[in-house]
Amino acid sequence: MRQYSVVNRPDEPDGFVIGVKLEAASRGGSRSMHESVQVGAELTVSVPRNGFPLRASGKRPTLIAGGIGITPILSMAQALAHSSLPYTAHYFVRSPKHVPFGDRLKALGGSLNLYSALDVQATLAQLGELMEALDPGQDEIYTCGPLPLIEAVTQLASKRGFPDDSIRFELFKNEDSAVDGLEFEVQLARSGKTFKVPAGKTVVKACAEHGVEIETSCEQGVCGTCMVPVLSGELDHHDAYLSKAERSSGRWIMPCVSRAKSGTLVLDL
Ligand code: FES
Repeated sequence: MRQYSVVNRPDEPDGFVIGVKLEAASRGGSRSMHESVQVGAELTVSVPRNGFPLRASGKRPTLIAGGIGITPILSMAQALAHSSLPYTAHYFVRSPKHVPFGDRLKALGGSLNLYSALDVQATLAQLGELMEALDPGQDEIYTCGPLPLIEAVTQLASKRGFPDDSIRFELFKNEDSAVDGLEFEVQLARSGKTFKVPAGKTVVKACAEHGVEIETSCEQGVCGTCMVPVLSGELDHHDAYLSKAERSSGRWIMPCVSRAKSGTLVLDL
């Protein structure tokens, strides 16, 4: 199971438009889509879920994308343009050859700024310039793309004075998805089950072995599908989905990658 951003405009209700980049280091999903899916193929799809929503906060959105991270950002830009709301979009690509959805991007007109073939220093300088032109009290940032771009945007925005909830991002990959760590105990409050999760095994897998299935998708801690409410326990987060505030609340866990530091983890399952 894989998740892809829906790229449709609000006035395109008749199908889902997605973009799938063929990843050289594919775990199987993008390769299968490119090699096996032909016109006429039937795929099973679920109802869309939105883990990276455009919020009606009253602030002006600045959208920043890199590479295939354009897909959710393009969807947001089209929705804002459709509602005649102000926004600006900035798109960093490796070369003009690496620009998907050219027609849709062109239709955004002057709201889109395209940066091609910038090296790391030039990208950082450009992002720094963008931040200087923004007002942390009036603007908010949405960003999606490779991890170094997201890290650069979030760090520069924090330095510029943006509060955490005005810097929204979506990762496609999680570099911190190790499931090592120590053995701990899990108690499932609703089903009344208690069992150990050994080092090297995920909470999702341990639950499945005890007859409790948790729905998953990315299994890397980025999509939010497996999120479970926590009743108590000292959490060891390894996901890239929860915000800082959600992490420190101790109320949620992504059990496909995160675990307890020790002792007992009580889940509302
Ligand atoms: Fe995607 Fe756990 S399955 S975050």
